[in-house]
Amino acid sequence: MSAGELPQIPFTDLRLEQADLDAVAEVLRSGWLTMGPRTAAFEEAFAAHLGVQHAVALNSCTAALHLAYLAAGVGPGDEVIVPAFTFAATASAVLYCGGTPVFADIVGPEDPGVDPADVAAKVTERTKAVACVHFAGYPAAAGVLADLCADLGLALIEDTAHAPSATLEGRKLGTIGLAGCFSFFSNKILAIGEGGLLATDDDEVAALARSRRSHGMTSGTWDRHSGRTDTYDVVGLGFNYRIDEPRSALALSRLERLEEDIETRRGLVREYRARLGDLDGLIVPYRDQDVADSSCYVMPVMLEDPARRDAFRSHLSEKHGVQTSIFYPAIHEFTAYHGRYPAEGLDRTERAARAEVTLPLYPHMTADEQERVIVACREALVA
Ligand SMILES: Cc1ncc(COP(=O)(O)O)c(C=O)c1O
Repeated sequence: MSAGELPQIPFTDLRLEQADLDAVAEVLRSGWLTMGPRTAAFEEAFAAHLGVQHAVALNSCTAALHLAYLAAGVGPGDEVIVPAFTFAATASAVLYCGGTPVFADIVGPEDPGVDPADVAAKVTERTKAVACVHFAGYPAAAGVLADLCADLGLALIEDTAHAPSATLEGRKLGTIGLAGCFSFFSNKILAIGEGGLLATDDDEVAALARSRRSHGMTSGTWDRHSGRTDTYDVVGLGFNYRIDEPRSALALSRLERLEEDIETRRGLVREYRARLGDLDGLIVPYRDQDVADSSCYVMPVMLEDPARRDAFRSHLSEKHGVQTSIFYPAIHEFTAYHGRYPAEGLDRTERAARAEVTLPLYPHMTADEQERVIVACREALVA
């Protein structure tokens, strides 16, 4: 069979259950679609799941990052140290506040989390906050960064887009810094289409996020509909960062199976690691013992020779029907960022950005599909 006739294996895939569809249909039938009781129920459940005081549901993780940086006091003239090896939103949300992103390097190909030593070296008197990204679902050095930030009076913001329910020394990621920012975008673990959430133990941060997500208004449409108040004031510059009820209902329904989904992902990642971990020419980031703490969002591998990446990816897709992705091109090398913001000494990021290939991973991946991916990788390395 040629690759054209093989069923394609996507790098990510989403399958909803009947219970999810029922939950959304029930909301649609209720006739109340904007933020209301389903959102409150989801926030309560997510906060309990994390063991955190406040969960503020939003329409994206990008919105959560924006509000988190605002809550940290980031404004014009301030710097925020962010990893260069992440999705653009970690940095663009700093720019929304008028701040300057200062890019930091990763530890290395085995640990693509931000390097605390490079973060420490890049702190200046203008630094206001530090962002870490729990890449692929594995904890960044958030404990070390939290201590550094506490010593210097900086805020630590955790970009937890990849890592719902993942842990660092028993603590859920997204609960270590001032705020944790989650994504429920289509290809994420708790996918609902578009959605996000800001988690925090800080009452003031939560109050700011709740107010700013809905135009800085002192009450919402649901409050007025349910007779709690019939007027409102606008007390700050706000945005429309609201989630809606169908998405909250979907999130609430999917949250019930989150741990089960993640456990299935871990099983698949363990198999990948066992079969790909010792191949010449391939680096599999992180260690076997890290899998239990990770939410296993994606399966990154790094080619030892970045010049072979295109051929490797083409071999997988053209000969085996296996789709891959790249997590991530380096932000400071994008047209909109290049040469405009501090980006010194990012060699490890630049190499990883050229070497990384993201392999297929989703909870309902079959053993046959995974076998096809593994065989394809082994073949591509010697092709
Ligand atoms: C690391 C990281 N941060 C932030 C985001 C932005 O998330 P959203 O699409 O929910 O705004 C993403 C999503 O791709 C991401 O991967």
